Amino acid sequence: MNAKAKPIAAILALAGGLVLPMPFAQAANPCKPCAPKTRNPCAAKNPCATKNPCAASDRIDPKLVTRPGDYRPYAGKASDLSNEGKRLWSDASLSTNGLSCNSCHQANGAFQDSFAQPYPHRVQMASDRAGMRTIQLDEMVQICMVAPMANKPLAWDSKALAALAAYAADLQKTFVPARAPAANPCAAAPNPCSARNPCAARNAGAERK
Ligand code: HEC
Repeated sequence: MNAKAKPIAAILALAGGLVLPMPFAQAANPCKPCAPKTRNPCAAKNPCATKNPCAASDRIDPKLVTRPGDYRPYAGKASDLSNEGKRLWSDASLSTNGLSCNSCHQANGAFQDSFAQPYPHRVQMASDRAGMRTIQLDEMVQICMVAPMANKPLAWDSKALAALAAYAADLQKTFVPARAPAANPCAAAPNPCSARNPCAARNAGAERK
């Protein structure tokens, strides 16, 4: 090797030394956002990571939110059910994360254009996350119970499910598609998820400690 080539060789060796370990450095990066959840050490420390109600990647088990074969909905007077549904719409005790239906759906927020169509119809969240091609209104209520509200589905014959569906059906009549945010309802301002971020209070608590 001549004197001129030496520095070049040194640079190449140095570059190689930097480049080669990169895959390892990336694999070891504890905050790599696409790392599988089970191995992501950040998920455990970040209480919001697992509870983001708008996280699109979380799979919903379609069995939980599909009408059972022997489905018999609660029968009641439509106006009573709608009144009860209106009350429940703002009831945060239906969720495990401090959200109510109203946190996202106040003034018909977060609904996409599909909401204007008669049921059953295709809803993006249901097809993306539960693989359901079309859904009924009460199935959509159950999807929001399980996913954004982070709770169990309501009993299929419960008054609460019939009431929420009845109230949602009334809202549907007032829904104007143009008012719906575009493709990603979670990105819309004001972001319905950040407004009442259930993790914010907990983080504040943690800071006080
Ligand atoms: C954290 C936000 C959030 C909460 C809380 C929430 N939802 Fe939703 N909901 C959404 C989003 C986002 C959509 C739009 C999904 C889509 O169109 O892909 C939606 C859509 C809907 C739709 C309309 C689907 C359609 O287009 O036909 C209904 C009905 C609904 N939600 C009911 C409820 C009920 C009932 C509750 C409370 C039990 C609730 N949601 C709680 C985020 C939320």
